[in-house]
Amino acid sequence: MKIAIIGTGYVGLTTAVVLAYLNHDVAAVDKDESKLNLLHEGKSPIHEPGMQTLLDEVWHTIRFTPSVAEVVPEAELILIAVGTPPKKNGEADTRHVEQAAREVAQVCHPNRHYTLVVKSTVPIGTNRRVAEVVENVFSARGMQGNVSVASNPEFLQEGLALQGAFYPDRIVIGANCDDAVDALRRLYQPILEQTFDSPSSLPRPAAYHLPPMMTTDANSAEMIKYAANTFLALKISFINEIAGLCENVGADVTEVARGIGLDSRIGPQFLRAGLGWGGSCYPKDTTALLGVAAQSGYEMPITEAARTVNFRQRERIVEKLMLACEVHASKERVSTTASPLQGKTIGILGLAFKPNTDDIREAPALDIIRQLVEEGAHVRAHDPIAMPNARHALGEIPIHFTEDVYQLSYNADALVLVTEWELYHRLALRKLAKQMKTPILIDGRNVYSPQEASAAGFHYIGIGRK
Ligand code: UDX
Repeated sequence: MKIAIIGTGYVGLTTAVVLAYLNHDVAAVDKDESKLNLLHEGKSPIHEPGMQTLLDEVWHTIRFTPSVAEVVPEAELILIAVGTPPKKNGEADTRHVEQAAREVAQVCHPNRHYTLVVKSTVPIGTNRRVAEVVENVFSARGMQGNVSVASNPEFLQEGLALQGAFYPDRIVIGANCDDAVDALRRLYQPILEQTFDSPSSLPRPAAYHLPPMMTTDANSAEMIKYAANTFLALKISFINEIAGLCENVGADVTEVARGIGLDSRIGPQFLRAGLGWGGSCYPKDTTALLGVAAQSGYEMPITEAARTVNFRQRERIVEKLMLACEVHASKERVSTTASPLQGKTIGILGLAFKPNTDDIREAPALDIIRQLVEEGAHVRAHDPIAMPNARHALGEIPIHFTEDVYQLSYNADALVLVTEWELYHRLALRKLAKQMKTPILIDGRNVYSPQEASAAGFHYIGIGRK
């Protein structure tokens, strides 16, 4: 099929390379010149495992262009995958989606039929609004036009985006007409039937079952996306709330998560206690859902609480660090009225909001670093790939970035593990502890067992553990 994709962010680019791999004829539009320059050179503008390899394979078949007019008239299916950043009041801003729809409608051929698909995460009712925008442009052009609008929310996880696109759990389509559903069924047929040869870097998971394609109305499809993300966000916040209680009563949250996760009604995923969620989706989507609720005069206390618990985790970890530093100071009989973190050197392991991405949007590390600097600490930080983005985001905040994890600990007063990069699972703990002034390890992702870290000489503090 001839496809035009508007927007080459995480969703747009992933969709473009996957559809091109499935032999669709893909054109991708973006207004960002620097992104387009990279794409014209065959370079991926995002850091995503497997992306560059797959892009190398399909790059020559994809047309990257800044011009909607160049590719939309000939396309059969147009996917909108532009950003919906939060407005000041938290609601998702659909301006770019509507603008994309307007530009598409301006160049549609009067005698052709198109399916216009909204993949961006949008507030409930946006598909209806998009259909209106298209109609308005058509009437201004004095033509009838023939465009079916559909919602097709995207559930990709950063770091696993290609995996999720080739082997999804489900495909959700929200449309009020059969022809849009048919067009999307043809688009996704190779995925629905798994008839394609898997890319060598992305083998089909052994236990993978054919994904269902669920069709529903557009409002429900839009709501499914928000409800899915909010549910996952509150599952994590729930285990983090339990973690806090585990600390008070002497239980271990990793054991509790294992025990409850074995119940098939609960399931083991998204029960890792730690510093909670960040990234481009959960913080934004929970706020947007609360915005939608407020507008309709409805309260959502569970969603509110999930957010409160999540952001409290970032404060609690600094409190734990303060307490640990106080304990060590009292052992050394240092008495002071200043913050226990004043003048202390703290090493931060991990800046990205989660491993396998350079994305630092809403990353816990940034909030933690800001708090530490406010308390008068000297901060050193390491991340395998997110340091340039973090440097940019933190601006003037004084912080020393280091390429060498072991330099972080040299003469340091404490280490805080914030992102569970694979690299941090294999640290030489004994070596780290030995070169520190006080060997405190605050493990914000429960990567190490308390026994292992203590045996290596650390004063170990995890999340929700004895
Ligand atoms: C999420 C959804 O998973 C995806 O379907 C949607 O399209 C976009 O939002 P993403 O933000 O990429 O994807 O990351 P995800 O893997 O879901 O993790 C989000 C955050 O939750 C990360 O900060 C992660 O560290 C945290 N997390 C995850 C936990 O703290 N504990 C867990 O058990 C799982």
